[in-house]
Amino acid sequence: MCGIVGYVGPRDCTEVLVSALKKLEYRGYDSAGIAVFENGKIEVAKTKGRLSDLETKMEKEGKPNGHAGIGHTRWATHGEPSDVNSHPHSGRRVTIVHNGIIENYKELKQFLIDNERTDFLSDTDTEVVAQLLDFYYDGNPVRCIRKVLHEIRGSYALGIVFADRPETVYAVRCESPLIVGQGTGEVFVASDVPAIIKYTKDYYLLEYGEIAVLKNGSVHFCSLHGRMIDKELHTADWDEDSAEKCGYPHFMIKEINEQPTAVKTTITPRIENGLPNLEECGITPEILRSFNNIFIVACGTAMHAGMVGKYVIEKIARVSVTVDIASEFRYRDPLIGENDLVIIISQSGETADSKAVLNLVKGTGAKSLAIVNVKGSSIAREADMVIYTHAGPEIAVASTKAYMVQLSVMYLLAFEMAFAKGKISEEQCRQLTSELVSMPAKIEETIGKVLDTCQYVSTKLITADSLLYIGRGLDYALSMEGSLKLKEISYIHSESYAAGELKHGTISLVEDGMPVIAVATQNSLLEKTVSNIKEVKARGAMTIVICDEHADIDRDAADYLIRIPKLNETLMPMLATVPMQLLAYYTSVNKGNDVDKPRNLAKSVTVE
Ligand code: M6R
Repeated sequence: MCGIVGYVGPRDCTEVLVSALKKLEYRGYDSAGIAVFENGKIEVAKTKGRLSDLETKMEKEGKPNGHAGIGHTRWATHGEPSDVNSHPHSGRRVTIVHNGIIENYKELKQFLIDNERTDFLSDTDTEVVAQLLDFYYDGNPVRCIRKVLHEIRGSYALGIVFADRPETVYAVRCESPLIVGQGTGEVFVASDVPAIIKYTKDYYLLEYGEIAVLKNGSVHFCSLHGRMIDKELHTADWDEDSAEKCGYPHFMIKEINEQPTAVKTTITPRIENGLPNLEECGITPEILRSFNNIFIVACGTAMHAGMVGKYVIEKIARVSVTVDIASEFRYRDPLIGENDLVIIISQSGETADSKAVLNLVKGTGAKSLAIVNVKGSSIAREADMVIYTHAGPEIAVASTKAYMVQLSVMYLLAFEMAFAKGKISEEQCRQLTSELVSMPAKIEETIGKVLDTCQYVSTKLITADSLLYIGRGLDYALSMEGSLKLKEISYIHSESYAAGELKHGTISLVEDGMPVIAVATQNSLLEKTVSNIKEVKARGAMTIVICDEHADIDRDAADYLIRIPKLNETLMPMLATVPMQLLAYYTSVNKGNDVDKPRNLAKSVTVE
């Protein structure tokens, strides 16, 4: 979704804004722009296209030169991607950038038109806010912002400059995330920490309805009611390298390689004397014993981690788990009761639909648990309990390491719950936990083992129009993620199917040469999965089989075999996901696609 940045300080503002926006490119965008105070006047440069297009335009037409300003990357919602719809947008004395959606912009526009404000240039909801600010502006910026915030409805974050308040930037947040970075004698605004990490690791999290005023290299905050606020300064526990490619051609492959470290960092503090211990997250064995039903709610990849969680929790802890897509769950009037647990999984912690689920849980008597990667994000702050995953910043739109650490937390939770409920013995729990502890090394081994094969096999996928992923049990849960990964970055249509369901319709799609990727890591289901593989093979499919190093697979069932190390079958998804990520990655690379920024997608979906 859109990215917002702002700067006040001694550096070249245009340079800072563009460099910060580049760090937000991963969020997805189709146009970019900045507004900078130059000799007391607001100069705007904006264009449809990439940041490189903006740089080219500024080289040709002149680059704003100053020390305070705001910048934006736009992901179109209202109005097509175009120069005129790009942000910043201006009223007569006010210029703004905006992330999110203003739901009542039509009625506000009508109000402005009725009051003889008819000079609208764009199709955006943002321009309406700029005009409204202008309409109410009486020389007191904060009062004017507060007045407008009471009138607009929706989810948004805004960066604002007033023509008669040079060298000052205002920022406000409602729903869409915003942070304020504090450097030495300089201050920054950004939608996410990677944008400013090059300049400072210290930042404030702007909360709902808070207004930040950045001036003279420092910042002060006030509430919607005009009260001054003291805020806690946070320090990022990662550095610029984490947000750089560090020699890798793409963030995605860097992040795949970071998985062993990410898993280790996530699980180590939650294991004590060889057993899982989630007490630092406020989760005790008593709490884990108290739940009747569990709902796991999330979107996309995070929801797929929840699918694996369902299989594992039900299998080991014997608690009933329902997994839901957040955008469905929030509107289907779910039967949540007291003593139920609602787990929300989210890398960003800002996904609009997932966040909305928290409101639904309130008042039901159920408890909410967030499994979130971004510290201090909305979902993390609003849930009753939170388990942070420690993947570090995930920049590629296609999630890899965040999924992997979400899986690792699902296992920790399942093991501790199973032990707390007496479904497994201490010895069994220790055994499972020690296999989880061995996972970072096993993931590393798997990457080394399968990389070349995946690179080669991907060359067989690039000409496909459509393909299938199949599996049974945990392999089916996992294949959902394999299929999403491939389609989102290769643009090849793909579906995941429970292997046993093929004969009920989908097998009619199979024709000569159609790739079918079969995940067959569950020994207890291996024979049945192999029969399904043979069924598609007999109908002309090109079969690619992911299985453990000892699995007995007939040579004539598989055109390509990708073998991974063998572990307890319950834990196999963490290893089997690696070849699926690599197949997707190399297919995208071989097709010449923009791997880290696939078309039409945004990293963090902060609107419905
Ligand atoms: O930030 P979240 O985990 O809540 O995001 C949810 C999905 O948008 C996300 O997992 C998406 O499906 C991935 N980018 C796919 O790789």
